[in-house]
Amino acid sequence: MKSVSDIKVYLIIGLATTFNVAGCSRQTTLKEAFKKDFYIGAALNQEQISGKDANAIAVVRKHFNSITPENILKWSLVHPEPNTYNFEPADQFVALGEKNNMFIVGHTLVWHHQAPDWLFVGTTGKPVDREILLKRMKEHIFTVVGRYKGRIDGWDVVNEAVGNDGQMRKNKWVEIIGKDYVQKAFEYARQADPKAELYYNDFNMWQKGQREGVIRLIRDLQSKGVRVDGIGIQGHYGLDYPPLDELEESIVAFAELGVKVMITELDITVLPSAWGHRGADITLNFELQEKLNPYVKGLPDSEQNNLAGRYAELFSLFHKHRDKISRVTFWGVHDGQSWRNYWPVEGRTDYPLLFDRQYQPKPAFYTIIKIASNKNQ
Ligand code: GLA
Repeated sequence: MKSVSDIKVYLIIGLATTFNVAGCSRQTTLKEAFKKDFYIGAALNQEQISGKDANAIAVVRKHFNSITPENILKWSLVHPEPNTYNFEPADQFVALGEKNNMFIVGHTLVWHHQAPDWLFVGTTGKPVDREILLKRMKEHIFTVVGRYKGRIDGWDVVNEAVGNDGQMRKNKWVEIIGKDYVQKAFEYARQADPKAELYYNDFNMWQKGQREGVIRLIRDLQSKGVRVDGIGIQGHYGLDYPPLDELEESIVAFAELGVKVMITELDITVLPSAWGHRGADITLNFELQEKLNPYVKGLPDSEQNNLAGRYAELFSLFHKHRDKISRVTFWGVHDGQSWRNYWPVEGRTDYPLLFDRQYQPKPAFYTIIKIASNKNQ
């Protein structure tokens, strides 16, 4: 349980981050707190983009100055059939960002997940060859990036091309096109919108093998004259990982490549690892429920406290490297929408973000605001 003194700290922080503007009490917003440091982004789901989840949009408009679509620009959603594009949600997403003067990120052009089955096969059902897949990739990139030319500010061009061992991940893109599929994707995206920023985005980025593999990949692209504007570090973290010194090493090493560094998909799970039970329906198994889903009725104060502390450590590090980091994007707006509730097993109750299921700021929110106001004084 949280001690009385911890609770007092949160109350004081909460009060300290509320101040008076022209007689009205106003809470400091995330985007204001980090205005001089980096963009504060959120990933939006379809309900939010369409305006159905109006409460979430109110939070986004108040606290965030950058948006990324969680799913709607992934290949299988925006281009589900060879000759069918579904642009309506993406049009709404871009309009929302423009209306609110936000830095708009497109996610993601080339990835091995959430890619439709037809993409890699021909009419006979056999895998297509390099030439056809490159043609499909180019057509997709030109159509999607071209549609939002001058409106989407930055694109995650390639997602997760490098494995944990630092080698190119084995996927259909490599199998069919070869390792230069990454280079081709960047070239097509540059042609489609020369002014957009183009990023490489991946996970496990604090790990040595991953870090070195990504550095090799980016150096290789640079040596071929391919400009990469930024590296996205997906931040799907936990209370006890990643080690901050290793993450810091990656932030510094990536920045030394002359590119912007971004924390692109930040959330911190408070639940026990469930990777060993991937795909299991834990709702049918009482023992697993107890073990893997312990906080259905609410997060105990002690864990709330740990989460706030973890966010504080991370944001102190990000703030320290604010000259290298251009954006920190949370993977979602509020706990209720997070993918952590349904992956790697369905039906859990997680608390990974700064806003709770009632759209209210959590203690972690106040600790982060406090860091910004202390450090930026
Ligand atoms: C990866 C992708 C994201 C999202 C998360 C999990 O990090 O880049 O788009 O799918 O996995 O939801």
